[in-house]
This record gives sequence, C-alpha cells and structure tokens, in this order.
Amino acid sequence: MKAAVYRQYGPPEVVRIEELARPEPRENEVLIRVRASTVSSADWRVRSLKVPAGFGLFARPVLGMFGPRKAVLGTELAGEIEAVGSAVRKFKAGDAVFAFPGFDMGCHAEYRTLPEDGRIMPMPAGVSFEEAAAISFGGSTALHYLRDRAKAKPGDDVLIIGASGAVGSAAVQIAKHLGARVTGVTSTPNLERVSGLGADRVIDYTKTRFLEGGEKYDIIFDTVGSTSFSACESALKEDGRLLLSAAGLPQILASSWASRRGKKGVVSGNATESVEHLRYLKELVEAGQYRPLIDRTYPLERIVDAHAYVDAGRKRGSVVITMA
Ligand SMILES: NC(=O)c1ccc[n+]([C@@H]2O[C@H](COP(=O)([O-])OP(=O)(O)OC[C@H]3O[C@@H](n4cnc5c(N)ncnc54)[C@H](OP(=O)(O)O)[C@@H]3O)[C@@H](O)[C@H]2O)c1
Repeated sequence: MKAAVYRQYGPPEVVRIEELARPEPRENEVLIRVRASTVSSADWRVRSLKVPAGFGLFARPVLGMFGPRKAVLGTELAGEIEAVGSAVRKFKAGDAVFAFPGFDMGCHAEYRTLPEDGRIMPMPAGVSFEEAAAISFGGSTALHYLRDRAKAKPGDDVLIIGASGAVGSAAVQIAKHLGARVTGVTSTPNLERVSGLGADRVIDYTKTRFLEGGEKYDIIFDTVGSTSFSACESALKEDGRLLLSAAGLPQILASSWASRRGKKGVVSGNATESVEHLRYLKELVEAGQYRPLIDRTYPLERIVDAHAYVDAGRKRGSVVITMA
C-alpha cells in the first residue's frame, strides 16, 4: 500500500510516499481502506518537533529519541471496512466508518487496522469521506475542553480565541450546541466564516483589544496559546474558567499560580481521546449542529504541500488528504 512516511524530524520535505506492506487485521481488528484523512496541527508538531515552550525536553523521549517511532502520521480518517478479524461483531466489510487513532497516528496510508472496540464509529449519514475525516481532531478536543472539563451550560458567555482553526471552528459549533452565547476571535479574512459557524459575535483581533472591552465571560477558550490568566482575569466572571489547549509550560504554570486564590480556574493539558466523543460528534453531525470546516483538500501524493500549508499556521478548519 502507499503511505506517507517520515523517518527523521524536520520540514515538510522529510515526508515521502513509500510502498509499505498492507497490514493484516488480528481477530479483534478491522482493516479500513482509508479514503480521506487530515494533516492536523498535531502532525505538524510531531513531524517538526515544534512543541509548545517548555515541552521540548519531553518530545524526543515520547516520540522517538533518534527518529520518529511511528513513521506514518495522521490522527483521523474516514473510509470503508475492507476486511474483519474472525472475532469482530460490530462491523462488516463495506461499512463506511470514521476513526480517531489520535496520537497512535498511522492514518496517512491506504490501509489502517484498528480494534473494533477502538475509536471507530459508523459514518454519519449524509457526509462525504472528506468531511467525515475532519470530524474528530477538532471536535474531540473542543468536546473535552468545553463539555467535559469546563462544563459549559446554557446561557454561558463563551469567548473562543482562534475561532477559525480546527479546534476553534469546532468549539464555536459545540459551544452553541451546549446553549452558550459565543464570541469568536479571528482575523479580518475569517470574520464571515466564523459568523457562518454560528458565533453570535465575532471580534477581529487585528483591530480590537478584545480582553479590554469590558465584557465578562464564563469561559475563555484560548485554542492558539496567545494569552494567559493574568491577561484574561478581568474578562472572566467571578467563577469563570480559562481553557488553555495550546499553551506552553511557563504559561500554564504562571496561569495556575496566578489563579490559585479565588474562584476563577485554569484548565490545560492533553485532551482525552474517546469513542464516546465520536458517538456524540456523529449525532451532532446528523442533527445538523456540527459540520467540520474544511479549508483545502490535497491528494496523498501532494502530502508535502499539505504539510507546508499547515506549517504556515493560517489554515481555516482542516486540511484534508484523499486517497485514490
Ligand atoms: N491540548 C490538546 O490536547 C490539543 C489538541 C488539539 C490541538 N492542540 C493545539 O491547539 C492549537 C490549535 O490547534 P488547531 O488544530 O486548531 O490549529 P490550526 O487549525 O492550525 O489553527 C490555525 C488558526 O489559528 C488562528 N490563529 C493563529 N494565531 C491566532 C491569534 N493570535 N488569535 C486568533 N487566532 C489565531 C488562525 O487564524 P488567523 O489566520 O485568522 O489568525 C488559523 O485559522 C495547536 O497549537 C495544537 O497543537 C492541543
């Protein structure tokens, strides 16, 4: 099978298309013929080792000391079940599915095996493989932070910084679904796009100092790592929470320290990857309350161009790659 493989950390050009052996499903596994995947911000970080400040020391021990331990990137996919192991009961050949191996990676290939009890779900009705492939990464991170950690509820005022990214664009839609009043922060070219996702209000961060306008929020979700507790404190309501999904270690430590007194809280750390998230997101898609935002689509053969576009840090939602 064809796969996008990288054997050293570095720029987009370290990724090459190679022929690899097609994996065989074990008795409890399904073999998925991958139709689409995404190049996400996680692929960019893992490929380049550009991790948030303070996490550099941990990157190589976790990802591979002298080179990548996992040669095929890709956190999410959509495709069709090609074959199933003898003990598999939930899926059969021909089923259309989407899946989120997450940091197990391996989706930038024509085939991927997964346990039937893994993070895999029938595809929502009425979406393409390209859309289904882009459901999980942003959607699951947004669910983890907004629903699971911050317990967002109807009537909450939620500010989302980076509302045009994969996480931010999902967060806008999920916060609306949870009943919040949503303000999205983005730059001039993305204002309309973020309104189109359902934000009640959008603010252009290139023109407005959005934390100094006097508005107070129950939740500030910084999806890009551009702020801190000290900067947000006066914009948080009395028991407001600051969610830092992309912060560096100094930012996290300083924010946690600054918030230690009083009711305002800080939430950070890696998002949980769970099959329940996929079930929830599937239902949201089918109810018309969540549609992943897609920026561009590249064929697998142009994976280097896809990485280069993601590296620029300006993508809107997801960059999808398709397999023939
Ligand atoms: N903690 C976790 O488990 C977890 C999970 C997923 C992702 N992450 C991290 O979260 C971050 C975001 O991920 P992503 O996939 O959403 O990234 P992404 O899609 O690459 O984000 C790109 C978007 O960020 C916006 N942006 C950049 N600087 C901004 C700023 N100063 N203010 C507002 N918007 C800004 C850009 O909009 P403009 O062009 O308009 O500026 C662009 O649309 C990454 O650092 C990723 O590593 C963490």
